Amino acid sequence: MSMERTLVLLKPDALQRGLVGEIISRFEKKGLKLVGLKMRNFPKDLLEKHYAVHKERPFYPTLVGFMSSGPVVAIALEGKDAIEVVRKMMGKTNSRQAEPGTIRGDLGMSFSNNLVHGSDGPESAKFELDLWFGDAADRCTWDPADLGWRYSIKEELS
Ligand code: RTP
Ligand code: MG
Repeated sequence: MSMERTLVLLKPDALQRGLVGEIISRFEKKGLKLVGLKMRNFPKDLLEKHYAVHKERPFYPTLVGFMSSGPVVAIALEGKDAIEVVRKMMGKTNSRQAEPGTIRGDLGMSFSNNLVHGSDGPESAKFELDLWFGDAADRCTWDPADLGWRYSIKEELS
């Protein structure tokens, strides 16, 4: 079965603005399966590692500072083409340019405080899931009762 997993972070602005339920609900309603969920004031060194790809960029210290300014909700989602599906649902980085219908396009006005992070490819998804959900006990394997209605099993999952 060609399922994919991806990491999503609900950034500190999502918590401050009371949008955690709204955002997780969008992913659930879409049909993505929740396979991990945790909320914490994550340590700065974890966020530094998470955004290490941007280490040389001028916005890196501000970004890490923002991400460690309050609690973050980390979730792991599973589905066919989950990485691409989540990125499309998030919308463009700058919320003001994000299309209506996307999370950033519907709920935000900021470039930096843009509510969500999603892995941007298979390699980053693997790296980020190992980083945030490295402990096997934090990842749940389960079967939604309606899987055969979410997908055409024969056409899409064989
Ligand atoms: P993310 O990694 O958080 O999912 O966002 P993204 O892929 O859409 O954007 P990315 O280019 O990876 O940038 C990571 C985060 O850094 C902040 N940023 N600020 N001021 C700036 O020029 C700037 N550029 C990026 C944003 O918060 C962005 O989400
Ligand atoms: Mg990114």
